[in-house]
Amino acid sequence: MKKVIVTGGLGFIGSNLIELLLEKKYKVINIDKNTYSSNFYNVKEFKKNKNYSFIKCDIANRKLAKIINKHRPIGIFNLAAETHVDRSIDGPESFIQSNIIGVFNILEIFRKFSVKNKKSRLVHISTDEVYGDILTGRTKENYPYNPSSPYAASKASSDHLVSSYVRTYKIPAIVTNCSNNYGPKQHPEKLIPKLIYNIITNKKLPIYGKGLNSREWIYVKDHCEALIKVFEKGKIGNFYNIGSNKNVINLDISKKLIKIAKSKIKLGKNVKIEFVKDRPGHDVRYALNSRKIIKKLKWKPKINLNSGLKQTFEWYLNNIKYFKSVNKDDIVRRLGLKT
Ligand SMILES: NC(=O)c1ccc[n+]([C@@H]2O[C@H](COP(=O)([O-])OP(=O)(O)OC[C@H]3O[C@@H](n4cnc5c(N)ncnc54)[C@H](O)[C@@H]3O)[C@@H](O)[C@H]2O)c1
Repeated sequence: MKKVIVTGGLGFIGSNLIELLLEKKYKVINIDKNTYSSNFYNVKEFKKNKNYSFIKCDIANRKLAKIINKHRPIGIFNLAAETHVDRSIDGPESFIQSNIIGVFNILEIFRKFSVKNKKSRLVHISTDEVYGDILTGRTKENYPYNPSSPYAASKASSDHLVSSYVRTYKIPAIVTNCSNNYGPKQHPEKLIPKLIYNIITNKKLPIYGKGLNSREWIYVKDHCEALIKVFEKGKIGNFYNIGSNKNVINLDISKKLIKIAKSKIKLGKNVKIEFVKDRPGHDVRYALNSRKIIKKLKWKPKINLNSGLKQTFEWYLNNIKYFKSVNKDDIVRRLGLKT
């Protein structure tokens, strides 16, 4: 049986990826530090699966070497990271620690491990935010990095570290840069689940600035399918953009969610859009050119935005307990205004 490690598997994308890997008959070891953004609710459907196990560990901790050497995985998907841009504005230190030092630790361990385990591969999961503000056009993989927030800069730094280790030490690693994900199990500090939470609990829907920031939304399962394709068929040392090619401004996302909600529940009188002070350094637009993965690895996204949003809304509605499993203060408190 093919054994892989997923780091950050108690988080949003990691837990969705594990679900898919188990469906595809992989044996999965989930390594997670169990930070505020992690949630055991996310793994409850498969926590008893005999092919799944969990180990609590910080990717920046040297004891990670023991775990990797003991389990000898044929692959490591690195998703462990601090991920909320607003938090990175308030306090960048944990982002440097997990997203840069943590990746450095993985690379040092993997560099030695891969000498004897030649078939093993590291897939490092990154973001479109590393390219910075893209006012027109769409960025290809060779577009220069120009990150705007401490979060994006920490991810950019880790991507550079990975590619330098490929070049210098010839480690078998690949980097993926994906656009904004949405779907079940995302922490409600992020836009879409926060809007859904506020709709369900009859609160105003806070939108930064005038709601004109444009993001390329991809359903999380489409991203996870792409990651497995990259792991199985991707070329070592390559970067792969993963996007839906579909940009939508935040204002339209909230209007779409209100429309979906109206067809499912009776809306409270407070449910209306409220424009709030913008995030400092807020990028206007990200947009990826994902032709490389579509052409070379024969992947394409399957779920369009309207049906993905509908499925997402339904998931949160059917999993109201999920919101209760998250610290309420982490949902409602506004972050990222300190400059
Ligand atoms: N969410 C998106 O739209 C998006 C888009 C592109 C790329 N990504 C990348 O995908 C990855 C996963 O994102 P997500 O949205 O699932 O994030 P998330 O915040 O939901 O989950 C991150 C997980 O990593 C764990 N973690 C954090 N620091 C750790 C450490 N030092 N050691 C071990 N575990 C640690 C957390 O406990 C949490 O379970 C991140 O690397 C992120 O940069 C996210």
